Amino acid sequence: MIATAKRLDSVQEYYFATKLREVRALMNEGKPIINAGIGSPDLLPPDHVIPALIEALQDDKAHGYQSYLGLPELRQSMADFYQSYYHVQLNPETEIIPLMGSKEGILHISLAFLNPGDQVLIPDPGYPTYASATKLCEAQAVTYNLTAANHWMPDFEALEKLDLSRVKLMWTNYPNMPTGAAGNLDVFERLVAFARKHNILLVNDNPYSCVGYEKKISIHQVEGSLDCALELNSISKTFNMAGWRVGMLTGNAEVLKEVLKVKTNMDSGMFYGVQKGAIAALKTDAQWLAHQDEIYTQRRELTLQVAHALKLKPEPQTGGLFVWCKLPDGMHDDKEFVDDVLHNKHIFITPGSIFGKNGAGYVRFSLCVKEEEIATMLERVSKKENA
Ligand SMILES: Cc1ncc(COP(=O)(O)O)c(C=O)c1O
Repeated sequence: MIATAKRLDSVQEYYFATKLREVRALMNEGKPIINAGIGSPDLLPPDHVIPALIEALQDDKAHGYQSYLGLPELRQSMADFYQSYYHVQLNPETEIIPLMGSKEGILHISLAFLNPGDQVLIPDPGYPTYASATKLCEAQAVTYNLTAANHWMPDFEALEKLDLSRVKLMWTNYPNMPTGAAGNLDVFERLVAFARKHNILLVNDNPYSCVGYEKKISIHQVEGSLDCALELNSISKTFNMAGWRVGMLTGNAEVLKEVLKVKTNMDSGMFYGVQKGAIAALKTDAQWLAHQDEIYTQRRELTLQVAHALKLKPEPQTGGLFVWCKLPDGMHDDKEFVDDVLHNKHIFITPGSIFGKNGAGYVRFSLCVKEEEIATMLERVSKKENA
């Protein structure tokens, strides 16, 4: 085989791509596995979304290449979404780029701004794609610690002590995954001040703020954030449309132009029907979101019982799609714990160490599991012998 590029040596196949093969093999053997590992919403998009997609298919415009910037109506509905949920005003012409999921934005931003040898501040624990995208650009990931002791917030004193001379980008993710920490305006203000002081491009990855959190927060609620901060957002979790692949990048017009240079060379626009469906979704009223939150609250309460039955110690959290738990006293190996629960209780959960060294000793339950299945999980873990 032809030798792969050296940059590939720095990344591995995404954990779930590998682990789900094992989970599927167990399912094929007839094991009744419940997948509480992945945050892929099982609930349906709002009722008016699918008719909007179907109707779009009859439109002559549906079949050609689409604009790199998406339909003006899509950008307008993204701006309206920011206005109604975050009270943030964005110019739909210049301060928003629709993306095919926020995940692609992580690579596009990295490709637009990183040279080999540049450094990037990455939260530990954190979404693994920040580090992978950094390494694919041959830049260096410098992790900063999020710990339970600091309520999973950045330690600004420790950040100030770092040699920041080569740091160009900083990733933050509030509300946070995997820990569920909500974040707040005070932390955002400190982050923006830190980025401005050290001339760092700050990117807040914000796909969870409309899932279960009472206060919907955005980095752009900070005065002057557009000088130094971008934000990624997504309809994947908010409107149960993870497979549709629609996200958005918001921020300074000049910075977005640079990201667009990458994006216009990578894809040729988003399918018209998907854009029409996304427009419909973004117009959804707050009542629909409140109903979603009720469903997740019920699931969370039941999942907490599962966690307690396994002697896990859940972190206090109010929103997001996950329950983040510390291992029982005396246990440290989260991967071993996950394998034990997978093979003996036929429940798949995620080991915290895949999110970084500070995730070691923790596990993550997804709430994208029907209540009946969580009840089955509870039965299984409450029994002494395997179900
Ligand atoms: C923190 C975080 N960022 C980004 C993403 C990617 O979301 P999208 O579906 O918008 O690409 C995820 C998905 O799980 C996530 O957890």
